[in-house]
Amino acid sequence: MGRSLAFLLPALLLAATVESLLTVRPDCQESCGGVDIPYPFGIGAGCFRPGFEITCLNNTMPVLPASTGVVRVLTLLVMPRPEARVMLPVSWTCYNSAGNTTAVSLDGRVNFNKDNVYRISNTHNQLFVLGCNTFVYTMSWCTAHCNDPLSAMYTLYSGCTTYCNDSRSAQDGACAGVGCCHVDIPPGIGDNLMKFDTWSRVGKEFSPCDYAFIVEKGSYTFRAADLHMEKHTRLPLRLDWAIRDSNVNSTASLSCAQLSQGNSTSCVSDHSECVDSTNGPGYVCNCTKGYEGNPYLPHGCTSKLPLHL
Ligand SMILES: *[C@@H]1O[C@H](CO)[C@@H](O)[C@H](O)[C@H]1NC(C)=O
Ligand SMILES: *[C@@H]1O[C@H](CO)[C@@H](O)[C@H](O)[C@H]1NC(C)=O
Ligand SMILES: *[C@@H]1O[C@H](CO)[C@@H](O)[C@H](O)[C@H]1NC(C)=O
Ligand SMILES: *[C@@H]1O[C@H](CO)[C@@H](O)[C@H](O)[C@H]1NC(C)=O
Ligand SMILES: *[C@@H]1O[C@H](CO)[C@@H](O)[C@H](O)[C@H]1NC(C)=O
Ligand SMILES: *[C@@H]1O[C@H](CO)[C@@H](O)[C@H](O)[C@H]1NC(C)=O
Repeated sequence: MGRSLAFLLPALLLAATVESLLTVRPDCQESCGGVDIPYPFGIGAGCFRPGFEITCLNNTMPVLPASTGVVRVLTLLVMPRPEARVMLPVSWTCYNSAGNTTAVSLDGRVNFNKDNVYRISNTHNQLFVLGCNTFVYTMSWCTAHCNDPLSAMYTLYSGCTTYCNDSRSAQDGACAGVGCCHVDIPPGIGDNLMKFDTWSRVGKEFSPCDYAFIVEKGSYTFRAADLHMEKHTRLPLRLDWAIRDSNVNSTASLSCAQLSQGNSTSCVSDHSECVDSTNGPGYVCNCTKGYEGNPYLPHGCTSKLPLHL
């Protein structure tokens, strides 16, 4: 018994190692700058599903092919949940002593989602607003029917209001309305456009700019000094993703129920299953219980090694 296990173990480990390599399409790059790139993500023609392209800048930095700016990718997950973590610039607006807008940054509005696969995770991010007598809200376009011009309007909102009295009123670590506010966001947001509104700006020269950003929970703590934040600051954001294939004759994304009626599916591995997206329309694939790997690749889901070995 002991002897046969000792004989089997190396073979099992070897098999597991070989199988764990099956996360990308054949002949595709597995990682970039230390970040794994599992299919449906991929680098280069034939390596990614439409919408899931990753660019490997200088062969060292994975980025989303955004049409504006550089959206650096920190991690990409297929299992156990569909997730991507990226760095996005903060949005800001600055005012003069008369309260008139002097400068606006559009950098925060990175168009990282032109193929509609991403949604900003509502469970893992929060919206922060830093500033003085300001109201900022986020607007989202393209929650469904993205190619339908009639639906192309901003529908989802979340925002909060900051007050300030004097230069000393904001306190480090306190983000409850004085100099800083934060709020949960709803599901379905696929854009990061911020709308700034301000009042009673006169005499508030100590806080010339307002900032707004959606950031991963737990990764930002307010400091009063951030009322003068470096304007090129980038902060981590968690994205959910899903397969949002359309029916031939409609722009509506397919759900698992529709797929089970015989439409082609992306869950191509044996021991894989379809799971409806929890953030936005569409679906994701999962390996069934007892299996792990990549359900988007043929034979991608493999049996888990028994834990008691
Ligand atoms: C890529 O390399 C070029 C030349 O070495 C450099 O100028 C550029 O900043 C690099 N880009 C990134 C994103 O590292
Ligand atoms: C501020 O804007 C208002 C309205 O646009 C304008 O009348 C006023 O001259 C501006 N003030 C300054 C100091 O730019
Ligand atoms: C606001 O500032 C004024 C003058 O600087 C001060 O008298 C007042 O106590 C401050 N109020 C609060 C709530 O801090
Ligand atoms: C799509 O529309 C075409 C033309 O109207 C029709 O022939 C076809 O059956 C439709 N396909 C589906 C899947 O509904
Ligand atoms: C595919 O999905 C559509 C709904 O989007 C459904 O009407 C159709 O019956 C499904 N099956 C086939 C074989 O097209
Ligand atoms: C995939 O299945 C595992 C258990 O087999 C579960 O823990 C996980 O939440 C599932 N993922 C999704 C996206 O449903």
